[in-house]
Amino acid sequence: MQPECRPLTPADLDAMTALEHSAHVHPWSRGLLAEAFGERYFSGSLWHQGELLGYFIADRVLDESTLMNICVAPRWQGRGLGRQLLEHYFARCRALGLGWLWLEVRASNRSALGLYVATGYEESGRRRNYYPTAEGHEDAVLMQKRL
Ligand SMILES: CC(C)(COP(=O)(O)OP(=O)(O)OC[C@H]1O[C@@H](n2cnc3c(N)ncnc32)[C@H](O)[C@@H]1OP(=O)(O)O)[C@@H](O)C(=O)NCCC(=O)NCCS
Repeated sequence: MQPECRPLTPADLDAMTALEHSAHVHPWSRGLLAEAFGERYFSGSLWHQGELLGYFIADRVLDESTLMNICVAPRWQGRGLGRQLLEHYFARCRALGLGWLWLEVRASNRSALGLYVATGYEESGRRRNYYPTAEGHEDAVLMQKRL
C-alpha cells in the first residue's frame, strides 16, 4: 500500500475532525483544527482510496518548527504511517530551511514517545504537572531535533 501524501485543506475538516476524535485521548476541537490553516502553519496528510489515514500539523517561526499535532487512524496504527508522516514533515522542513524542530508530548504517551525517539528527537526538558488528566496532572516532555 502506497498512500498519497498531500497538504491538508479546509475541505478536509470533516475527515480531520472525525480522525482527531478517534485517535486522540484529548482531541482538538473542530475550531482549533480550522485555525491550523493560518499562515504560520503547514501540514501533511496520508490518504488511501479516499480515506484519511493520518496527518500532521506544524508551525514555522524563523528557522524553527514545532510539531503541533500528529495522529494516525487507530486501525492503521503500528504499520509505519506515523514514521512516514514525520519523514514528510522533515522533508518539508528541509525544503523550508528550518533547522530546529520542537514538540511537547504527554509523559504517559508511550507510542508517541517511541515514535519521536525512533525518528531522532531527544528530550530537552520537562514541564512538571503541565497537562490535566482524569486523576490530576502529568508532565509535558519537551523534545528537540536538529535537522
Ligand atoms: C503516535 C502515533 C502517531 C504513531 O503512529 P503509528 O503509525 O502507530 O507509528 P509507526 O507504526 O510509524 O511506528 C513508528 C515507531 O514509533 C514507535 N512506536 C509506535 N507505536 C509504539 C508503541 N505503542 N509503543 C512504543 N513505541 C511505539 C516505534 O519505535 C515504531 O518503530 P518500529 O515500528 O520500527 O518499532 C499513533 O500512535 C497515534 O496516532 N496516536 C494517537 C495520537 C497521538 O498520541 N499523537 C501524538 C500526540 S503528541
